[in-house]
Amino acid sequence: MTADATSTTVTDQAVNSLAGTADPRLRELLTGLIRHLHAFARETRLTQAEWERAISFLTATGQTCTDTRQEFILLSDVLGLSMLVETINGDRAPGATESTVLGPFHMTESPVRRLGENIDLVGGGEPCAVSGRVLSGDGTPLPGATIDVWQADGNGFYDVQRPDLQPPGNGRGLFTADAEGSFRFRTCVPSPYPIPTDGPVGDLLRATGRHPYRPAHIHFIASADGHAPVTTHIFVAGSDYLDSDAVFAVKPSLVQDFELADDPSLARELGLPNPFRHARFDLVLERS
Ligand code: BEZ
Ligand code: FE
Repeated sequence: MTADATSTTVTDQAVNSLAGTADPRLRELLTGLIRHLHAFARETRLTQAEWERAISFLTATGQTCTDTRQEFILLSDVLGLSMLVETINGDRAPGATESTVLGPFHMTESPVRRLGENIDLVGGGEPCAVSGRVLSGDGTPLPGATIDVWQADGNGFYDVQRPDLQPPGNGRGLFTADAEGSFRFRTCVPSPYPIPTDGPVGDLLRATGRHPYRPAHIHFIASADGHAPVTTHIFVAGSDYLDSDAVFAVKPSLVQDFELADDPSLARELGLPNPFRHARFDLVLERS
């Protein structure tokens, strides 16, 4: 029997072994996984040594995960799989805010904050205001919507990456929109930052000559009763790496100006000098 005939047989045997799977969707997913993995091994003529190397890599990826580090999400992100899954499932009505990847740093609960509060507890960059409204698809404001926000500090690190330098909750906030559906908070203008490269995913990037940078961004999850929540970012217009995000997550509609604004009353409320940098945008949710 040739090697190809053997591998065809083992593929069918492995697929047939799923016959007793009670959950039809699980059976469909595992069948597809087996068929595609086997096709990959045949197509690339995968060697024993290469497969052992891959298993070592996946083992190291698992061993790098902790309560505050998710190397598997990072791996999915740099392979473009997170963005592909997001895109397959992220169909939105025209006008609704587009979604993008969650990323690995939404692993702690954001502290509940009052509208207007400063999420930059360490003063790590150029201060700015972020404001807007949460709206339904037809433009109706959504009072009481929640806006969960997280971002890296001015040095490009999340609080969970630098617990020695940042208090828990730095760069994070859970806000509730007011009676007009409006939200506002103060922070620092985010800067581009590298995804963590001190683990197996960093080895992968180096082996493939890729840079690890993400363009400057702030993460949001907006939720409101009767609406599908949206997980997204806003990206800073003009940031480096907008055209080469290490995790392929930029969508043009999510790029926002942090313009120089003249608004003495908002400046006073947020404790900012006037004029000040201001990102203004609405988060538009689809009815569920
Ligand atoms: C982030 O933006 O927080 C992120 C997303 C994907 C991979 C690494 C970091
Ligand atoms: Fe991020």
